[in-house]
Amino acid sequence: MDRTNQVYEGKAKKVFATTDPEIYVVEYKDDATAFNGLKKGTIAGKGVINNRVTNHLMRLIEDNGIPTHYVRQISDRETAVRKVKIIPIEVIVRNIAAGSLSKRLGLPEGTKLSSTVLEYCYKDDELGDPMINEYHIKAMGLASEEELRLIADYSFRINRILCGYLQDLKIELIDFKLEFGKTSDGTVILADEISPDTCRFWDTETGEKLDKDRFRRDLGHVEDAYQEILRRLMGA
Ligand code: TMP
Ligand code: ASP
Repeated sequence: MDRTNQVYEGKAKKVFATTDPEIYVVEYKDDATAFNGLKKGTIAGKGVINNRVTNHLMRLIEDNGIPTHYVRQISDRETAVRKVKIIPIEVIVRNIAAGSLSKRLGLPEGTKLSSTVLEYCYKDDELGDPMINEYHIKAMGLASEEELRLIADYSFRINRILCGYLQDLKIELIDFKLEFGKTSDGTVILADEISPDTCRFWDTETGEKLDKDRFRRDLGHVEDAYQEILRRLMGA
């Protein structure tokens, strides 16, 4: 299986076709953006870390019975994944108020939500990924009712799997973003990445932010935070 032409370049990753029609290769970049691309920068070593962190968590999720696009890591920055058509919905899962939820609802960051919150955003950079609900998803034909039920069910299950696992590593999972895709036979599987770019991770004891908020908010020690997450996941 060899990499052939590039099929997509996003803000943090490139995607390549391969000689196997069912397999893509994802390459993680060090580029970082925030606020829909308004803030740009690089986080040294981020691509390597996000590749390893994502693959570690994808394997954990797969081992717990949820299908993912993960196939195998092929280099520091590259991973072979199952080819999917991305469903253009970002699923946000929230356990504790932070970020845009805190702003929108006036809930101080760190407020525990008494039940898990699911939000959907329409993946469209030009529109700034607006928040949508089940009715918009149905009306726009972004996913069928059955697919959406499965996506919601998987998202809650992934949250339980990740929360339990990370708790033991003294990492509090505040919130995170998931993307799902459909394989050529229509199966819905987890795709994209799960990394400090797409999750809020707070140290359980100190509350220290160990994620991309350090970049978004200019808190400093961005690289150290990413390294720390990798170190805890690898048990070093
Ligand atoms: P938010 O509080 O800014 O809505 O972010 C919620 C979670 O989703 C947070 O863990 C960061 C993640 N996220 C992404 O992965 N991509 C995005 O484009 C945005 C806005 C958030
Ligand atoms: N990466 C996203 C962007 O630039 C947003 C974020 O993660 O804050 O739009």
